[in-house]
Amino acid sequence: MHTIAARDSQGIIPSSGQPDARPKKVFPIRIDVSSLFDSLVRPVSTRVRRSSLEIGAHRSELLETGFESITVAGRRVRPTSSVLQSNLKKQVERFWQNSPCDSWFTNEARGTPAFYRSLDEHRYRVHPGLLSAVGFEKTRGLRVLEIGCGCGSEAERFARAGARYTAVDLTNAAVSITQRRFQLGGLEGCFTQGDAEDLPFADGSFDLVYSHGVLHHTPNTPRAIREVHRVLAPGGRAMIMLYHRDSFNYQVNLRVVRRLRAHLLKTEPGIKLARKIWHEPEEELRRHADLILQDPDAYLDMQNMLNRNTDGPDNPLSQVFSRPSASGLFWQFENVRTEVMFWNPNWLPGIGKLIPRLIEDWLASQWGWHLWIYAQKRYLEVAAKRVRRPACQEVHAEALVD
Ligand SMILES: C[S@@+](CC[C@H](N)C(=O)[O-])C[C@H]1O[C@@H](n2cnc3c(N)ncnc32)[C@H](O)[C@@H]1O
Repeated sequence: MHTIAARDSQGIIPSSGQPDARPKKVFPIRIDVSSLFDSLVRPVSTRVRRSSLEIGAHRSELLETGFESITVAGRRVRPTSSVLQSNLKKQVERFWQNSPCDSWFTNEARGTPAFYRSLDEHRYRVHPGLLSAVGFEKTRGLRVLEIGCGCGSEAERFARAGARYTAVDLTNAAVSITQRRFQLGGLEGCFTQGDAEDLPFADGSFDLVYSHGVLHHTPNTPRAIREVHRVLAPGGRAMIMLYHRDSFNYQVNLRVVRRLRAHLLKTEPGIKLARKIWHEPEEELRRHADLILQDPDAYLDMQNMLNRNTDGPDNPLSQVFSRPSASGLFWQFENVRTEVMFWNPNWLPGIGKLIPRLIEDWLASQWGWHLWIYAQKRYLEVAAKRVRRPACQEVHAEALVD
């Protein structure tokens, strides 16, 4: 039996649940509804229509419109989108609060100059194209908003380039780590904890909105992009990086290699072998192994594969976008352009590191993992009104379509 992508309140995969009387249509999941129904109910087993959670291309849309039927503590309720969205958003926040992005790449004490130095050194070695992709030197004097600042590597570059920098992040951890970076560097910026789907800024406040590796982690990406559009001034630009569906990582590594690896991780010798092949920390491999043993079918579900094999085994949500679906998200903008980057040699264990840089760059430009979208808000909004909004399937993530 397939299990669902929903997780329990710890951001950990739920058990496969009780056998279902209608296995084709109804799916057992566990949802933490306690915060939403206050003291009325505690986290309990719930049932939702299977299709709601499995058709990833429409997941955001389904989250917006709500599921048809959920049973909570034996009572049928009519859940709104906010039930599932806020539950998932809380898991996303908890995950990133506990493991601020990239912080795991260094052993230096958090908040020290050495911490930021080693993070940046690692970041721009692994992502050499990132600096030129942003073009910091052209941002002097611009009002720049970064959504999801993480540990603030680009934040510092924007500020040093003379941009009027503002950061917003869902977590207090990211905001304070970035703020500390600015204190150490004597830099100026504004820092706010907030949600990309409901930005705490007035319309037209920024000339550039930058977001790297963030909006595929929020449950309603289309809403976040609408917010990007709203806070941009006419003529303002958006520069957004999302995970790429038509990438080697998604189509080959996650769909095939990592699924095969899951079988290897079921045994102790398999874990040792996997460690030799992928050079991943043993602790992380063991966490994968635990999850596989808990519920092998759930682990192999493609949405779960994507979540657990992108930003750590307990990451509650990642999504992927093709070039057309990403462009569709930016239907309100003009001059929309996409570019694909980033190749990780570890995707080809054994031979990956032998590939010459030139070929690696070419592979990255074809089947890379990072899909950058550059877009501009129209100067005349009246023109935007004439642009027909594409059908929903053109604008939503395709993460769960398998
Ligand atoms: C993968 S990290 C990327 C951080 C940074 N941009 C980078 O490239 O290193 C994802 C970040 O997005 C933030 N995030 C996730 N969902 C968000 C949301 N709805 N609103 C604002 N920030 C969000 C997380 O807190 C986390 O700091």
